Amino acid sequence: MRHARATCVTVSIDRVDFREPIHIGDLVIMKSVVNYAGRTSIEVGVRVEAEHLTTGERRHTNSAYVTFVAVDRNGRPIEVPELVPESDDDRRRFAAAEARRKRRVAEETAGRHP
Ligand SMILES: CC(C)(COP(=O)(O)OP(=O)(O)OC[C@H]1O[C@@H](n2cnc3c(N)ncnc32)[C@H](O)[C@@H]1OP(=O)(O)O)[C@@H](O)C(=O)NCCC(=O)NCCS
Repeated sequence: MRHARATCVTVSIDRVDFREPIHIGDLVIMKSVVNYAGRTSIEVGVRVEAEHLTTGERRHTNSAYVTFVAVDRNGRPIEVPELVPESDDDRRRFAAAEARRKRRVAEETAGRHP
């Protein structure tokens, strides 16, 4: 919503990988970044870390990619601002997200026309 400055709905959550357990009492930290903006959709990457509060040890426990669509008051998709990657990391995330998006579209099309 901060990128689109509009209401956004969740349209898809990609595979969620559980790399390590999160223990009771761990502090859970979620970091997220806008990877890619299409015409009306935005892919956000989420990285989850667990911090042991007395030792300070931090572990990367989960990651996921979430796609949101900006919508108007009638729930119809509306255009979002272009995302201009600036750093090398931004460009790497953008390119990877673009490849995932192509794969999703192909899967969607295959699902609609088996
Ligand atoms: C989100 C929604 C408005 C999209 O409607 P739609 O008819 O699929 O719209 P479009 O086909 O025009 O697609 C809109 C965008 O969504 C993307 N999209 C559609 N289905 C997708 C999917 N399964 N995964 C990723 N992106 C998807 C399209 O690629 C398109 O992106 P772009 O404009 O950047 O190219 C509609 O699916 C909806 O209302 N879903 C319910 C959302 C909801 O209730 N979420 C709450 C979950 S708790």
